[in-house]
Amino acid sequence: MQVITEDLIFQLDESETLLEGLERTGHQVEYQCRSGYCGSCRVTLRAGSVDYEKPPLAYLRRDEILPCCCRVLEPLVIKVQLKSKYSA
Ligand code: FES
Repeated sequence: MQVITEDLIFQLDESETLLEGLERTGHQVEYQCRSGYCGSCRVTLRAGSVDYEKPPLAYLRRDEILPCCCRVLEPLVIKVQLKSKYSA
């Protein structure tokens, strides 16, 4: 599935979560629980849709998703940047 971030377009592998795909491609993402409880990984969704196997416990605004536990249903546009922007 195609994922478009602020800096990159990449293909999410079927075997990885969106959080794993963002880490693999060098994006700046936060996490703690990696299972929908803490909300640390939340990112803003600009286009596309996801769902969840179980409703996540973390609070989410209408335009936010949890990359650690969402299922990507269609190509996504999300507000995430590459790490290198932060180290400059
Ligand atoms: S890492 Fe905790 S909700 Fe995603």
